[in-house]
Amino acid sequence: MAQKLIIANWKMFPTKPAEAKRIFSGIQKGVSKVRGAQTVVCPPYVFLPELAKLAKGGKVKLGVQDLFYEESGAFTGQVSPAMASAYKATWAILGHSERRALGESNELVGRKVRYTIQQGYTAVLCVGERGRSEDGEYYTFIRTELEAVFSGLRRKDLERLVIAYEPIWAIGKRAEEAMQTRDLMEMTLFIKKILTERFGRKPAERVRILYGGSVKPNNAAELVHEGGVDGLLVGSASLDVRQFLEILNVAAAA
Ligand code: 13P
Repeated sequence: MAQKLIIANWKMFPTKPAEAKRIFSGIQKGVSKVRGAQTVVCPPYVFLPELAKLAKGGKVKLGVQDLFYEESGAFTGQVSPAMASAYKATWAILGHSERRALGESNELVGRKVRYTIQQGYTAVLCVGERGRSEDGEYYTFIRTELEAVFSGLRRKDLERLVIAYEPIWAIGKRAEEAMQTRDLMEMTLFIKKILTERFGRKPAERVRILYGGSVKPNNAAELVHEGGVDGLLVGSASLDVRQFLEILNVAAAA
């Protein structure tokens, strides 16, 4: 059985380096006992140097929450793939809805995904609709988000692409308000269909699809099992060691 992929998006938390180290060490310790799951932690950039030391030789991989599409230059406030890989980051979340809300366009996200994959990272492309209406227009919205990025990718880039479906309306809520697994299964199949249309069946099968949005210990198993996804992108519960390890354990067993 393929390993489940569980990614922690710490967002702009925690505020202190000591706290970041404590959470990371706790996760790392627990992960050593979990089989059947691959774990990636994406902290704020500033914690990377310390966490890279802790991650050395361990099973937990490091990622970041955004990257720019140039190696260096006059780009105030940006961080390049080369800079983050010096601290062992090999994964990058790109196009998260919280960044799109600050003005990132599909075109910008596409450029970032392309460049980041070329630099040897695995890109975790986030897509998700703001809300849902009866007429199902959110499917068109998701198709547009995906195709904008796919148009710049080659088949071989898919080996380093993960798609995280995160409906915005389901982020930052309680477990009961996360997505229904039946609806998730439909969306998973829809994303696979778009991938297949564009790249063909075999290359499309290599792309892992994750769900994100109020993933908690008590809904993780059913989301993975009944939602047809290959793993989870976890926000707030990933800052709580006990909760995150429980999610890992139940998802790995699902
Ligand atoms: P929550 O798990 O806090 O809802 O966050 C989801 C998310 O945005 C992960 O990227």
